[in-house]
Amino acid sequence: MNVMLLGSGGREHALAWKLVQSPLLSRLFIVPGNAGTALCGTNVTIALNDFKALKKFALDNNVAMVVVGPEAPLVEGIWDSFKQDVMTSDISVIGPSQTGAMLEGSKDFAKEFMNRHCIPTAAHRTFTLDTQDAGIDFIHHLTPPFVLKADGLAAGKGVIICATADEAIIELNAMIRDKKFGDAGKKVIIEQYLSGIELSAFVITDGKTYKTLPSAKDYKRIGEDDTGPNTGGMGSISPVPFADAGFMAKVEERIIKQTIKGLAQEKIVYQGFIFFGLMNVQGDPYVIEYNVRMGDPEAECILPRIKSDLLELFNSTAKGRLVESQVVTDHRYCAAIMLVSKGYPGDYEKGKEITGLDHIMDSIVFHAGSKKDEKTGKIITNGGRVLAVTSYGMTLPEALATSGKNAQMIGFEGKYYRKDLGHDLMKYI
Ligand code: AMP
Ligand code: GLY
Repeated sequence: MNVMLLGSGGREHALAWKLVQSPLLSRLFIVPGNAGTALCGTNVTIALNDFKALKKFALDNNVAMVVVGPEAPLVEGIWDSFKQDVMTSDISVIGPSQTGAMLEGSKDFAKEFMNRHCIPTAAHRTFTLDTQDAGIDFIHHLTPPFVLKADGLAAGKGVIICATADEAIIELNAMIRDKKFGDAGKKVIIEQYLSGIELSAFVITDGKTYKTLPSAKDYKRIGEDDTGPNTGGMGSISPVPFADAGFMAKVEERIIKQTIKGLAQEKIVYQGFIFFGLMNVQGDPYVIEYNVRMGDPEAECILPRIKSDLLELFNSTAKGRLVESQVVTDHRYCAAIMLVSKGYPGDYEKGKEITGLDHIMDSIVFHAGSKKDEKTGKIITNGGRVLAVTSYGMTLPEALATSGKNAQMIGFEGKYYRKDLGHDLMKYI
C-alpha cells in the first residue's frame, strides 16, 4: 500500500525508517520530510494545513493511509476532513478525530476529561479575562511553586512555573490580558505543582482496545544537569529504569485503561497514538499532559525497540481490529542524543554542512532539521534540532556510550549536545 506521512522532524524520520521495513509498504511519501526521510521515500512539498491539497495528492497517488506525525494538523481536524469527504473517506488516517485531538489542543478539555473519568492529575482551576481576579485569589490560596498553563497549543512554551505569588500574578496578566501566547492563552489553567520525576508512557489505540508501547524519558532542558531553557527535547532513553512492573501496572490500571474507557464512553473517535506525560510522585503516577501523537525525541528511541510490523499495526488500528495485533518489544535499551545548532532554542543559523554521516556504523542517525543543498548535493543543517543519534545497548550506559561516541564523529559548525543524558537514572539501575 502507498502511505503518506506528515511531518519533518526526527520523529518522522524514525516513523519512515520503521515503515519502510514493512513488506506491506509499496510507496512512502513524506510531507514535507527532511534529508533523512528522503532516504526512505519521496519528499513532497505541501503545507500541512492545506487539507485540500493533501487530499488531492493522496487521491492522485493512490494513497491508502495517512500517518500524522505532529499535533497541529490533528488539532485542525485532518481526520474529520478526510473522513467527511466522500472522495477520501476510505483512506485510513492514523491519528484522532478533531475532538480526540482536543486532549492535546486544549488543556482545559484534557483536565475536564480526566476529572470525569477519575484519572489522577494535579488539582486545577481555569480562568479567563472575566474571572482574572478570581485567578489572583486562587494563587493566594495555593502554596508555591505555581504552575500556569495556556489552554491552547503554544509550541511547547505555554507552561510557566513561578516561584512566587507575585511572579504568578504577573504571568497570569501577561497571558490573559496581554495575550502573551495569543488566543492559546485566552483560558489559563492554574494548577498544583507536582514534585517527582517525569516519564512518558505511550499506547496505540483504535478507540476500543490499546497496545502499550515502550516507556521513555526525554531531556527537555538545553543545559547539562537539566539547566537553562526548555527545548523540544535534547534526547531520550527507553525503557525508563524506575518505571518497574509495579509502577507501570498502576499507570495501566489508573490512567491508560480509564482513558481508553473514557474515549469509548464519550464516543470520541480515536485511531492513533496517545502519549501520556506522567509524573511519578513517590511511586504514584499522575498525568501532566496528554499528547495525541508520538513524542519527539521519544519516537527515536521507542520505534527502534518495536520489533512488530508498524504498518500492520497501523492497519489494524484503522480497521478497529487492534485486538488481533501484537506489539513485540526488543529487550535492549535505546538512547537517542540530539545534536543541535548553536544558539538553539533561541536564534540559530542554518545551512551548515554536516559531515561524518557515512562513518556511523553502530548507531542509527535520524535526521530532524536537515536538508540536501540543491546546488552542492551536500547535507546541511536546516533547524535547531538537527540529528538524533540512536543506539542500542544491553545496558543503558552502553547505549548512551555508543550514541556519545558517534555524536562526536558527526560534524557541523556550532554542533552542541548534552553529554549527561541518563546520569540522573544511574541510581535506579
Ligand atoms: P506540559 O506542556 O503540560 O507537559 O508542561 C511542560 C512541563 O512543565 C512538564 O514537562 C513538566 O516538567 C512541567 N509541569 C507541568 N505541569 C506541572 C505540574 N503540575 N507540576 C510540576 N511540573 C509541571
Ligand atoms: N518530547 C516531548 C514532546 O514530543 O512533546
